[in-house]
Amino acid sequence: MNKKKFMRFNFFKLVVLIPLCTFGQTRITIDAAKAKDTISKHIYGHFAEHLGHCIYGGLYVGDTNKTIPHKDGVRLDVIEALKKLKVPVLRWPGGCFADTYHWKDGVGTKKQRPSMLNIWWGNVKEDNSFGTNEFLNMCELLGAEPYLSGNVGSGTPQELADWVKYTTHPNSSSPMTDLRETNGRPNPWKVQFWGLGNEAWGCGGNMKVEYYANVYRQYATFMSNGSRDYQLYRIASGASGDDYHWTEVLMKELPAGMFDALGLHHYAVIDWNNKGSATAFTEQQYFTTMKRALQMEEFVTKHSAIMDKYDPQKKKSLAVDEWGGWYDVEPGTNGAFLYQQNTMRDAMIAGATLNTFNNHCDRVKMANLAQIVNVLQAVILTKEEKLILTPTYHVMEMYNVHQDAAMLPLTVTTTNYQLGNEKLPAVSASASKDKNGLTHISLVNIDANKAHDITITINGAGYKTVTGRILTSDKLQNYNSFENPDKIKPANFTGAGLSSSTLRVKVPPFSVIVLELK
Ligand code: AHR
Repeated sequence: MNKKKFMRFNFFKLVVLIPLCTFGQTRITIDAAKAKDTISKHIYGHFAEHLGHCIYGGLYVGDTNKTIPHKDGVRLDVIEALKKLKVPVLRWPGGCFADTYHWKDGVGTKKQRPSMLNIWWGNVKEDNSFGTNEFLNMCELLGAEPYLSGNVGSGTPQELADWVKYTTHPNSSSPMTDLRETNGRPNPWKVQFWGLGNEAWGCGGNMKVEYYANVYRQYATFMSNGSRDYQLYRIASGASGDDYHWTEVLMKELPAGMFDALGLHHYAVIDWNNKGSATAFTEQQYFTTMKRALQMEEFVTKHSAIMDKYDPQKKKSLAVDEWGGWYDVEPGTNGAFLYQQNTMRDAMIAGATLNTFNNHCDRVKMANLAQIVNVLQAVILTKEEKLILTPTYHVMEMYNVHQDAAMLPLTVTTTNYQLGNEKLPAVSASASKDKNGLTHISLVNIDANKAHDITITINGAGYKTVTGRILTSDKLQNYNSFENPDKIKPANFTGAGLSSSTLRVKVPPFSVIVLELK
């Protein structure tokens, strides 16, 4: 080849071949040797509020129920399904309900428990038949740690201090522990996680953060630790979305010894006045939902950066104790009950958000999907004695391999999902190595139309085999119904090609894949 030809060939390589190779290619580089942070299992937490049919009908059917199998009123079918998720932590009793809840109304003989109006969720009668003992016993049955959300908005510091004693202090140490014994539970439960108010900026009291910081300090002062085995883990009511001032003030004003985490709430909502149907949505609505969901990455990054200024050693964590998609309720259901169906759109929200949490596990140590059964982005929907698992359930189940595994840092250079003039990153990913030495990589392609080719390079490791599972469907709007409960479920995925430390995967549109490498 003469020089002219050589130059022409190289020009061809540069201008034609390289773009052809990289066009439509997403590249992920994983640094297996640089693993240092653990993905806390509590990132895979859930949230149960006295709202609609989350508790009554969803988790609890009453201890006299004759048609649905239960233990002390707690649905056994729901517990069995939740056990497969390995639910690590469950937040209760709210949400907005928490700041109206007086726990003493919900203990003791059921017939003598006073009723109240659930003012936030439809003014329905709350008979308090599901209270502290029922919740904590249910957590034990489920193998999940409880996270009690204390009433700071309309309660008193004494009430919260008494709740701590009632649940966690050793036998015969106070009138509260005597009350516990009278109510049939001599020994304390393990209750490590405590929320001091919920959405203090809104339904929790409409407080300014400067005021809430003082109130927080007052309530925290009287929460006494009664256990020798663990310290109470106190979580302050955190910011909504991009309210960085809230985080800044709390980090500045809360003494380090008085808190362990700040909350953060973010829902993927198209427009609070026009949320749109959970199932009959357009591609534009889907795109907007995903745009909102992907904001989680920015919020977590920016709140973490503020926390870094005050706590560079990352002793305090961010607890995203409410997250998920929020749409109009299903036609014909009570507008205050927030009952919505769950489609492949929700699977995309779940997969992409969990990738964000995994990748930020140095700061995000807990997250609670809203909510566990029959409310918002639920993992389970019930109808009388029937139960269905939603696409979100399947994502949570596929991803539970990351619980307490070492996070493998990665960089993603992704192609875009384009709609009109707008674009979003199409692919997100996270990776971890578990205690048995297995590496798991979760991949999400949110593109509504196109498959994306991904090349994954894993530095510092070599593998012999790859297996995988995929969650996808032929329409984004598909969902599991009581008539067709298994329309969407995980299938084996054999489309990943492995050569030592390089993987090539074609990820179909709107799909979630979890790969396992040995
Ligand atoms: O999850 C439903 C509600 O959303 C919660 O009660 C509240 O904290 C949030 O605004």
